[in-house]
Amino acid sequence: MPELAYVNGKILPISEAVVSIEDRGYQFADAIYEVIASDNGRLFCLDHHLERLERSMVALHYPPVSLAEIESAVRSLFDQAALPRAAVYIQISRGVAPRNHAYDNSTLRPQIVMTVRPIQEAPASKREKGISVISVIDNRWGRCDIKTVQLLPNAMAKQKALDCGADDAVFVTEDGIVREGTSSNLFIVSDGTLYTHPLTPEILPGITRRVVLDICRKLRYPVIEQFFTLEEAHAADEVFLTGTIAEVMPVVTIDDEPVGDGSVGDISRSLYEELKRRMRA
Ligand SMILES: Cc1ncc(COP(=O)(O)O)c(C=O)c1O
Repeated sequence: MPELAYVNGKILPISEAVVSIEDRGYQFADAIYEVIASDNGRLFCLDHHLERLERSMVALHYPPVSLAEIESAVRSLFDQAALPRAAVYIQISRGVAPRNHAYDNSTLRPQIVMTVRPIQEAPASKREKGISVISVIDNRWGRCDIKTVQLLPNAMAKQKALDCGADDAVFVTEDGIVREGTSSNLFIVSDGTLYTHPLTPEILPGITRRVVLDICRKLRYPVIEQFFTLEEAHAADEVFLTGTIAEVMPVVTIDDEPVGDGSVGDISRSLYEELKRRMRA
């Protein structure tokens, strides 16, 4: 039974899973989510994902939801699907109510839905040769640190990249500060030092970012959590994206200009290998 859904306590085939049209997630993007990857039959960093899920719910003042119940639902869904390499998607909305901007938490029951599916792997050629990205102006709201389903700017930016023949897009401010990718964080490497955007409301505190920072400490790679510009990214020796699905994805061109010598760098490669080793351990 490969692809399954979970809707408020029931596990069923994805094609039979439905939610109300008055779900606030559907009408107001009043919902938060997580994506957890597995490798070798083991969910990676489930604890970190649950921690961030709770942080998102607290930030949006959701009615209380039991994290223990969510964890056990994730585990039973994942076990039933029996997919060694899967992505579990969790979405929690504030609840269902007649459409009204204001909400009354005392009458709302958060709606919990999940899916489990095989991961669509990035083509091996992209991992070996790297990907191309375009830069787009960051037109998202001011709380990108909360993992909400308000992803239209991300979806439009990703599609624009594909329409331009690139693989992905990175959000950049009017002043040229690089924020993050459409579903990933971004690192650059200059003269042996790694730089990544600090944790501020303008970016998602990525779990993969966190793991990669930990790997850098173990491998004694110097890292600075500091703003950098598009110009600095262009001049870097290496650039890579980090994300649950992207893992560590080398970027070899930005806006059609090569990064470094245009090939995948040693640091990006070693971080990817160590991340995969941890995922499969
Ligand atoms: C905007 C954005 N930034 C960063 C990330 C990377 O986060 P994680 O490593 O937790 O997957 C994601 C993942 O979906 C994202 O959507």
